[in-house]
Order: sequence, then structure tokens, then C-alpha cells
Amino acid sequence: MRLDRFVCKSTELTRAQACSVIERGEVCVNGQTMTSERTQVHENNQVTLNGVKLSCRPFRYLLLNKKAGTICSNIDEVYPSLFNSIDIQHRDELHIAGRLDADTTGLVLITDDGRWSFNIITPSKQCSKVYRVSLSKPIDTSAVGKFKDGVQLQGEGQLTKPAILTIITPKDVRLTITEGKFHQVKRMFASIGNKVVKLHRERIGDIQLDVEPGEWRYLTQLEVESFFDRDRQEGE
Ligand code: URA
Repeated sequence: MRLDRFVCKSTELTRAQACSVIERGEVCVNGQTMTSERTQVHENNQVTLNGVKLSCRPFRYLLLNKKAGTICSNIDEVYPSLFNSIDIQHRDELHIAGRLDADTTGLVLITDDGRWSFNIITPSKQCSKVYRVSLSKPIDTSAVGKFKDGVQLQGEGQLTKPAILTIITPKDVRLTITEGKFHQVKRMFASIGNKVVKLHRERIGDIQLDVEPGEWRYLTQLEVESFFDRDRQEGE
């Protein structure tokens, strides 16, 4: 991560204050004075501020049940940010691993660990996301095969990756996908002439939503590691 971010994550300094102490030559990395805030450092580098060793705060991992009419952004826009319901220190350091539309509800994973969220959002990691979908019209059973084979979304060069569609009732289905294209679920149903009227994310990887709308909790160690394991297994 950048040196100014490291200084922020290990002190109470703001980004501007961190840049100032770096520019003034008060920060050393592995014994060498660094005056550029852009210097890249690793968590296990020895970083000091005026001779005092800095240690990054531990990373945080949360899940939240997003309410409809909130947005996956760090600031309020047309709708309020979902971060308003997370009252913890250094909230501005958190980001969302896989955004939902304003009208979509359900599971959102939140962290300040960019390497962890990379495992969730990057398509090559094939992390599964499970959605409960309400439709405007009854669905034909042929959709199961179409989604398994991949469908053509408007403006995309390639078919969607194999997806699992389970029909619960003709207008209520469950869809598992491993990609996260813009408005992907809504566009997949549009491609077969249907329309999503309600969308709710139930699961990401092994992590199941288990809190009430608008509530959040920290992930367990096991839940956090479920995404690191994926990383390690692929590296083996
Ligand atoms: N697909 C969509 O179309 N919308 C979402 O919010 C998530 C997945």
C-alpha cells in the first residue's frame, strides 16, 4: 500500500497530515527516509515516524444486510450511503467487496483489506454469489439450460459464465453466478424477455446472510479465511 495510507492506518493522522510528515522527512522505511507519499510499502516493512515504529491497525471484515433505498458508496448521493448504519472508527477506510444496486437488498461484504476483497470480486476467482429473484412474468423451464450455457448480454463480447437457476415458483427463483458484471442479474433476465422486480443477495462464497435488514456484524475468523484459502489453494 502507499506510504501515506500506511501512516494513516497506523496513527490518528489524516491523509493531509500524513503527507506533511512524509514530506518533512519524518518517516523512514527500513531505515531509509522516504519523502514521497507514493512510496509502496508492505505491511511487514519497518516503518517509523520520528523514530517510533508504526504498526498498521488490524484489517476489519464485516457483513451487512443492505436495505432497499441505500447505496453502496462511502458518501450519500441521491440515496443515503449504507455506511450510515456502521458506527465504527475510521469508517472512511472501509470499502465494499461487490456492490449492489440501490433497489437491491441483502448481503454486502465490507473491509479495509484490498487483497481480501480482490478474491471476491475478481472474475478469475469464480466466487459464487447467490440471489433470490422475483420476476414480473412466469419463467419458462428452458431458462435453466440457457443460463447454464450462458446468455448474451447487450454490449458484452462474451456469453455469461455458467449460472445455476433454481425455479422455486414460476415467478420466484434462485440464481447463482460467479461474475459481477454491471446489473448482471437484471440483464440476464432481460435477455430472456423477463424483468426482475425484486432482488436480494443471500450468499457470497460460504458466507450466508444472517442479520436483519440494516444490521451488520464482524465476520468470524473462519469466514474471513474462507477467501484466503481460495487464494492459497489456487497458488498451490
Ligand atoms: N445484479 C444486478 O442486476 N443488480 C445487483 O444489485 C446485483 C447483481
